[in-house]
Amino acid sequence: MELNGSVVIITGASSGIGSATARHLAARGAKPVLFARRAAELRRLADAIRQDGGEALVVPGDVTQSPDVQRLMRETLDAFGRIDALVNNAGMGGGLNLCDTRDDLLRQVLEVNVLGCALCAKYAVPHLPRGGVIVNIGSVAGEVATIGMYTASKFAVRGFNDALRREVKGRGICVVLVAPGFIRTEMTAGLRYNMPGPDIVARAIERALRSPRRKIVVPWWYRPLMYLGKIPLIADAIFGHPKTQARYRDRDSVKKLSV
Ligand SMILES: NC(=O)c1ccc[n+]([C@@H]2O[C@H](COP(=O)([O-])OP(=O)(O)OC[C@H]3O[C@@H](n4cnc5c(N)ncnc54)[C@H](OP(=O)(O)O)[C@@H]3O)[C@@H](O)[C@H]2O)c1
Repeated sequence: MELNGSVVIITGASSGIGSATARHLAARGAKPVLFARRAAELRRLADAIRQDGGEALVVPGDVTQSPDVQRLMRETLDAFGRIDALVNNAGMGGGLNLCDTRDDLLRQVLEVNVLGCALCAKYAVPHLPRGGVIVNIGSVAGEVATIGMYTASKFAVRGFNDALRREVKGRGICVVLVAPGFIRTEMTAGLRYNMPGPDIVARAIERALRSPRRKIVVPWWYRPLMYLGKIPLIADAIFGHPKTQARYRDRDSVKKLSV
């Protein structure tokens, strides 16, 4: 897909990977449509993009609410007359372990991470041209089972991504899964690992839009780990180890990821 002049809807654009992606794509001539619940954050981001000479549209809303998602498509078409791509990025953590996680959060993580992708794709597909692209943000946790309901949601995103690719292939629309490892954002603020910032994912999303393929794992060094983690004996030994599980019971992290 040609980025210059393209209209790209980015959900979850108010922080982290979504915000970095909006700035990155705008700097390359795309017109990002910024969607999330925190309107003030979106407006600040749009101002920054305009100051850098770019164009952006702000549409506040919730990915789990069908009327909000339909309004997102309508306002995008009213403003720009077209939609070239959708980046399904909005997401949330689901608590680091099952027993410490509130019941309402267990429900919400599925609604935001899975239903949100489905609603946005459902209402974007009829407007996407041949050569249009949908990028779904999965996770390495959607390849190797690690953290409870979050993992379940990202396994679901991966399945949804593949099924959607097959459903819209005949329309000439490409569907790409971008699966990040740990990235330093608000979502991981409570974790003490070393991790890269969100720009590395923004660059992967740019690659996904310019030359779509099935899946991009980012950073690349998660790929060998990911394949090792798919061998059940090895995965159980690593992720079921008491030391790993003790990290998942880190109270600070659980608190942050449960907000
Ligand atoms: N950070 C990582 O290590 C990592 C690793 C793998 C995958 N990911 C995935 O990357 C994506 C972005 O996460 P991030 O790390 O950038 O975290 P983040 O900084 O917390 O960003 C999450 C974004 O999702 C939006 N969002 C949450 N619920 C929403 C809702 N109901 N409706 C609309 N927007 C909603 C938030 O905006 P509002 O609160 O303003 O609505 C925010 O903009 C997620 O899908 C996440 O699962 C992250």
